Amino acid sequence: MIIVDELPHHASAIDTLLDRSFGPDRHLKTVYKLRAGVEPVAGLSLVTLAEDGSVIGTIRYWPVLLAGQVPSLMLGPVATSPEWRSRGIGSQLIRRSLNRAAVAGHRSVILVGDAPLYQPFGFVRETVLGLDLPGPVDLQRFLGLELVEGSLTGLCGAVERWDDRAAALAATLAPARSRPLISRVKAARAA
Ligand SMILES: CC(C)(COP(=O)(O)OP(=O)(O)OC[C@H]1O[C@@H](n2cnc3c(N)ncnc32)[C@H](O)[C@@H]1OP(=O)(O)O)[C@@H](O)C(=O)NCCC(=O)NCCS
Repeated sequence: MIIVDELPHHASAIDTLLDRSFGPDRHLKTVYKLRAGVEPVAGLSLVTLAEDGSVIGTIRYWPVLLAGQVPSLMLGPVATSPEWRSRGIGSQLIRRSLNRAAVAGHRSVILVGDAPLYQPFGFVRETVLGLDLPGPVDLQRFLGLELVEGSLTGLCGAVERWDDRAAALAATLAPARSRPLISRVKAARAA
């Protein structure tokens, strides 16, 4: 199997995989309000392909604006085909894409998901305590990761859908220079 960037022709297989993984009502979730009408972030949204070329894993990221002024990424959904689970595909997609996000100069990532799945990658509840999502969620599942230390600290306000104003704001910011996540994880282990 291989991991490649998501391309337009993967979209329908991804939809099928997401329907199987989350159910057809998935679009009703609060996080979909932040995805509506916005394209997934190219270069971070990845698929895992089986040897026959079929899509067996997907991860997507969306740009979001925090507290009216801070661009960030929202991770999700991530899913592995039921028959391919527990072989490391999900973890590999999360690790690879987070490393790419750090290398690309993104400063932070938020998500709504199962804490036990994301805590090993550094996601914690504390970093997003001041942020509000545009609808109901189980707050224990609302997590954040600072790719640049302090990038979420003290932020208070709404998580908003990406729009032209957010894009214009982001264009004025220089990309962060952070070490790839994997090197920080290794450094932390060595310490
Ligand atoms: C979550 C999911 C993407 C993991 O994919 P996968 O390819 O099986 O992942 P991995 O093989 O890398 O396993 C990752 C680890 O997380 C664990 N895990 C899987 N789903 C989990 C969950 N929902 N909560 C906590 N841990 C979870 C696995 O048991 C595994 O732990 P282990 O290595 O100690 O056995 C897959 O189970 C899936 O598609 N689930 C349905 C959709 C979903 O719930 N997505 C995540 C939303 S938060």
